[in-house]
Formats: sequence, structure tokens, C-alpha cells
Amino acid sequence: MTRPVRKIKIRDFTIDPPLLLAPMAGLTHSALRQICSGFGGVGLLSTEMLAAKRLPTESPRFSPYIMRTAQEKPLSYQLLISTDQEIGPAIGVLHKLKADAIDLNMGCPAPAVGKIGAGIRLMEQPDDVRCMVAEARKRTTLPLTAKIRLGIELDEQKLLDFCAMLEDEGIDMISVHARLKKESFARTPRWEWVAKVKGRLKIPIIANGGIFSVQDAENCLRVSGADGLMIGRGAAVRPWLFAEIARDVYGCDIAPPTVSLPMVYGSFLDHLELYRLEYRLGRLKEFTHYFARNYQFGHLLASRVQSSASVDEARERAGIFFETGT
Ligand SMILES: Cc1cc2nc3c(=O)[nH]c(=O)nc-3n(C[C@H](O)[C@H](O)[C@H](O)COP(=O)(O)O)c2cc1C
Repeated sequence: MTRPVRKIKIRDFTIDPPLLLAPMAGLTHSALRQICSGFGGVGLLSTEMLAAKRLPTESPRFSPYIMRTAQEKPLSYQLLISTDQEIGPAIGVLHKLKADAIDLNMGCPAPAVGKIGAGIRLMEQPDDVRCMVAEARKRTTLPLTAKIRLGIELDEQKLLDFCAMLEDEGIDMISVHARLKKESFARTPRWEWVAKVKGRLKIPIIANGGIFSVQDAENCLRVSGADGLMIGRGAAVRPWLFAEIARDVYGCDIAPPTVSLPMVYGSFLDHLELYRLEYRLGRLKEFTHYFARNYQFGHLLASRVQSSASVDEARERAGIFFETGT
């Protein structure tokens, strides 16, 4: 395969290599970001979705949603928005937090998010979205990106019109999770639909969905023709995946990752200490759910951590699992 182009340039900002960590509620926080950046190969990190309305009251020192370390750079912050009034104050906070980019969530299918008129619900309201994007564009010169799904049902014209509207209003890059609203992770992502968006727009298009290996990355790039890739669950299973893809697909000069699974898990636990006690166990359980897939009997690790009453208990149980493999 011909090596794809290695950099994305939006405004004064370069994403190199064009490999992005996906926003994931409960997963894409400082601990996972630190592990991924430690291995290298991530061109742009992300927060999980942050409710724009609540952002002005979050404490940068204590909120697990916005806490970060100096190592986590560059970092995009994802906003969950439902009205244009909440955008200005939220962007003001993101400027203070020294965001490198701002992403607008237009793809979340969760019913609770739909109820407040946010996430994928926005794809049904292009006129409102036009105002929201225009407002956001007025408020920041940072790279402003959007993350979408393919829509509620397959409708090429509607999808392309929506994306063209985003581009016209000043969105700098779009990440496309190649599934419809109701399609579960079990369904093969429709990377060929990312190609349709890519064919119509001038701004960079990022393909997202179902990338767990270097082979998946190559296949996705071939089918979608995307300018870059966004990786979600694969990053929680194998935080070194970016480094592998950066080396093998983009030819980056990165040392081949040497991976000790217990050590990766141990670092995750150490990074969790950044958070107040009450925020640690839930995050450990969420990460373990994915990370355990590295083991043949990983369900045992996942269920023992899941039923732990404290991080200390989970640490001890995980230690026994790593020693015995069962
Ligand atoms: C636990 C979890 C939480 C997620 N939270 C968000 C979120 O906060 N914002 C968002 O845009 N997408 C969210 N997503 C969707 C992912 O960003 C991504 O689009 C999806 O997982 C497909 O990519 P993947 O196959 O690489 O995981 C979430 C996905 C998962 C599994």
C-alpha cells in the first residue's frame, strides 16, 4: 500500500501523525491519555465529552473530566452542546485551560443525551447547528472540529449536506464514526461512507470505528481514503496501538513498543492516584473491561475487578491474576 500522507494541517495546528484518540466517556481521561502518549504515535489526544453547560463550574484542580498533566499534549476538548447560548462561556473556559482544539459532539446516540437535544440529535437540526457552529467559530480561533455518525438512517444527500454546512460555517475537520445512530459496535463499520464524505468536502476527514490493529488501520485508510484515523476502544485495549500504526503505516521514527501488560495496568493504577478516591474505582472498572481482552481468560480479570469494593482490592486481585494467569 502507498504510504498515506503523514500530517494534517488545520490553521496553525499540525496533527502528526494523523492518529487521534477518540473521546470516550469514563475512559478518555488523564490516566489513559498518559499511557497512550507514553507509547507515542498519538497526533491528538482528547477529553471525554464535557457538558458545555456544566463546564464553567468544573474545577480544573479536582474535576476528573478536565484534570490533565503537562505530558498530555496536544489535547482536544470535546463539548456536548444543545444551545448556542452555552457555547461562549464553555469556550471561554477552554481557552483558560489552554485547549489545543475544540470538538463538538454531534454523534452521541445515548438516549439521555438525545433528551437534552444534544449528540446525534443535532444531525436532525441543521439550522440550529448552523447557529451553534457560527457562534463557536466567532468565539475561537482554535481548530474547531466536529464528530458525527452517519445519521439516523442511510441518506447520502442528507449526510453530505450536513457536512458541507459544517464546512461552510468554519468547522476545520470532521471525524466520522462510520455507523448509524442505532447500529451497535457489533456491526461492521461502514468505512465506505467515510469515502463519500471525503469525496465531497475540502477539509480533512477522519475515519473512526472498528480499528483494533495495524491491519484494520490499513484497511480503513484504503476503503475510506480518510486523512487520518480516530481510535476509541482499541486504545483502551492496546494503548500502544497508535505507536504501532504510526510506525508501520505512517513510517514514523518511533521505537517498537515493548509491552508488559501488568506494567501497563500498574501505570494506569498509578495515574489514577491523580484523582480523588471516589473517582478512581469506576474508571478502573471501565478500563479493565477493555484491557482484559488482551488475555485469553480476561473475563476473569474483568469480573474480579468489577466486583471489587475498592481500588486496593482490585489491585490485589489483578496482581493475583497476572501471576497465575487465571
Ligand atoms: C465507553 C464509550 C464512551 C464513549 N463516549 C463518547 C464521547 O464522550 N463522545 C463521543 O463523541 N463519542 C463517544 N464514544 C464513541 C467513540 O468516540 C467512538 O466513536 C466509538 O467507540 C467507535 O470507535 P472505536 O470502534 O474505535 O471504539 C464512546 C464510546 C465508548 C465505547
